[in-house]
Amino acid sequence: MATVISLSRVSMEFPALEGAGTVKALDNIDFDFRSGEFVVALGASGCGKTTLLNVIAGFLTPTSGEILNHGHPITGPGRDRGVVFQKHALLPWLNVVENTEFGLMLQGIPASERRRRAQENLSLVGLSDFQRYPIYQLSGGMQQRVGLARALTCDPDMLLMDEPLGALDAFTRENMQELILRVWKATDKVVFFITHSVEEALFMATRLVVMSPRPGRITHEYSLDFCHRFLEIGDARKIKSSTEFIRMREEILSIIHGEEVDEIADTTAAGGAP
Ligand SMILES: Nc1ncnc2c1ncn2[C@@H]1O[C@H](COP(=O)(O)OP(=O)(O)OP(=O)(O)O)[C@@H](O)[C@H]1O
Ligand SMILES: [Mg+2]
Repeated sequence: MATVISLSRVSMEFPALEGAGTVKALDNIDFDFRSGEFVVALGASGCGKTTLLNVIAGFLTPTSGEILNHGHPITGPGRDRGVVFQKHALLPWLNVVENTEFGLMLQGIPASERRRRAQENLSLVGLSDFQRYPIYQLSGGMQQRVGLARALTCDPDMLLMDEPLGALDAFTRENMQELILRVWKATDKVVFFITHSVEEALFMATRLVVMSPRPGRITHEYSLDFCHRFLEIGDARKIKSSTEFIRMREEILSIIHGEEVDEIADTTAAGGAP
């Protein structure tokens, strides 16, 4: 598989919000995103997931290290990397189709072509019948689908998604997981997806990275194929309730909880509690 984005020894330090010193949000990250992959990052709050996404998106410049996009250094945001945010970032004064084609309008693509491409992607996310709806009349799941259609409409190589399903109810969330996997298969994008849900991560990833905080590092990596199995058989519950899935879920939960327990122990020691 061809390498699309390659990170070598990427570190990101921020000034500490309180007191002197810095926070090492990313510490020497080495990672390659390859074509066809659905990479999911999982980890406790503050372990650097969003920072990692932001340096790939080009919103942040790492303190040190190198990020290559098809062999060329990333110097800022680009059309080849589409972002879907946790809370939709749609423009409330535009309707669904206008929001979807907005990026193409900024690129100066002629009206008829941008409408056609927007409609194609709205159909992919099941929103063909809602093109004229104002954003505020859509449910949370539908708003996220517009966000996805908008990102797809610019035809990026890579989709970056920061907890895109975090604000949805459990039922909508499961439906959206399935929809995103189908869209991924249909469009052949490389995906980088962040979540706090172990089940979601296992279900969706072809490669799962578990991160730990302070400093932000990748501590575990798994190659998975539950998503491919879902795309074959189409029964998510069957996959999520399988013995293998449950065993992996417990293994990863114990890693994450283990790290949290260590962290509490460290804090206690530093604080000198009796
Ligand atoms: N702009 C910033 N200025 C200062 N510190 C920051 C900044 N952005 C992130 N950090 C710090 O970097 C660390 C990693 O933050 P980041 O947002 O990447 O974590 P995260 O894994 O996405 O967390 P969450 O799961 O809560 O979204 C945190 O300690 C955070 O406080
Ligand atoms: Mg985050």
